[in-house]
Amino acid sequence: MNDVARPTYFIKVFGCQMNKFDASEFERFFTERGLVPAPAPEQADVVHVLTCCVRQKAEDKFFSLLGALRKHKLSGGVKVIGVSGCIPELRDVGGDHAFVDYVIGSGAPEKYYDQIEAALIKNLDMKTGAEPVALHMPQSGISEFVTVMRGCTNYCTYCVVPAVRGPEQSRSVTAIRADARRRLQAGAKEIILLGQNALAYGMDLTRPATLLDALSAVHDLPGLRRVRFVTSHPAWVTEEFLHGLKFLPLVCAYFHIPFQAGDNETLKRMNRKYTVEEYIEKIAMIRRLFPEAGISADVIVGFPGETDAQFQGTVRLMKRVVVNQAYMFKYSPRPGTPAERWGDDVPQKTKEERLAVLIDTQREISLRLNRAQIESTMEVMVDTADHMEPGRYKGRTRCNRVADFTSTKKHNPGDIVSVLIDKATPHALIGRLSTRHKRSLL
Ligand code: 5AD
Ligand code: SF4
Repeated sequence: MNDVARPTYFIKVFGCQMNKFDASEFERFFTERGLVPAPAPEQADVVHVLTCCVRQKAEDKFFSLLGALRKHKLSGGVKVIGVSGCIPELRDVGGDHAFVDYVIGSGAPEKYYDQIEAALIKNLDMKTGAEPVALHMPQSGISEFVTVMRGCTNYCTYCVVPAVRGPEQSRSVTAIRADARRRLQAGAKEIILLGQNALAYGMDLTRPATLLDALSAVHDLPGLRRVRFVTSHPAWVTEEFLHGLKFLPLVCAYFHIPFQAGDNETLKRMNRKYTVEEYIEKIAMIRRLFPEAGISADVIVGFPGETDAQFQGTVRLMKRVVVNQAYMFKYSPRPGTPAERWGDDVPQKTKEERLAVLIDTQREISLRLNRAQIESTMEVMVDTADHMEPGRYKGRTRCNRVADFTSTKKHNPGDIVSVLIDKATPHALIGRLSTRHKRSLL
């Protein structure tokens, strides 16, 4: 069979990295069955959408895409529409949209392969069973996600994740290692271990393990150059864990540690299980042990009942902890969460004003921290070459900063180089290849 005769697929991903990981699994499923990727949904026979319902905005975007897909289907373009992820766990997508061919949940992709296969056979005139096509096996990117656990047992009161993804369910260390190995064999150089509450990894296993065990299990795999993990809940950051990281040199000193709010009463109502003072101490602990660490955080404005004084607490905390990057969100009530029952009483306009203040504050902080790197030499893993401008490359530092650099040499994605930083913006460092090696590079 040649490519012209092959059915095509397109995967649209909304939301978190967990969905991106699942997307790569679905991609494998489709390619193993002989489907080839299409450049756009309207050119695909099969469109699979991975949905997110963590905030209202992501839900709205999904439903408008679904409307567009319906039109493509009616006009004879798209033949199979599939929906997976969090929204079906919350709403009756299939019942309300009869033109959707399969609706599956947010569990591990392989749980649903029979259902998808049935929809493909019915609508695409396909034979059953996998048809291994070596030519079309998806290539790994340079950085690949590996899920270590699904779900979350923290029950933050604004968050829909525990309801739609269930309690924490860790995968075995063996499964994680096998998955990472497969991705490295396909060309990946960096593995990012993923969990909504990654530091709680392994507590639920019959033979309990820790995130350090999972990190150690991938650390010696051939081809690996860097390892990261996300997301860290502040309450789970311990000195013991941080000391353990010291024995795993490929693990990058980068921590994504949401603080969500900078006011103790709000944190209590969010059920975050730490105080502002404890958050500050956890960050200080990280910086004591890893002075070069990169830190990012999530913040919410306009949580029910948030007063102006409480919001000022968030601004103060932001200025105090000075993280490299912050992901900032306006609160949106999520169905079935405790906070939903408390009413969404902060006006939209106030939320927007508060968000704008945070964005400005963080931009200034990010710029200051990036400027402090000027004239230093940093280790950068090449991500992409700029095809429009030869000699320009983009990569990431160990602390997860974006670094743009120029070089007269040829570099491939995944190469690790030294970059001398000349300039900085709030979002990136800009520099040039350095011949002066700061330390031995892989
Ligand atoms: N409204 C706004 N932001 C939310 N987040 C989670 N739930 C909500 C909500 N209901 C944010 C948190 C979390 C990130 C993934 O999304 O900051 O860390
Ligand atoms: Fe949601 Fe809180 Fe779990 Fe994060 S830690 S996924 S915000 S319940």
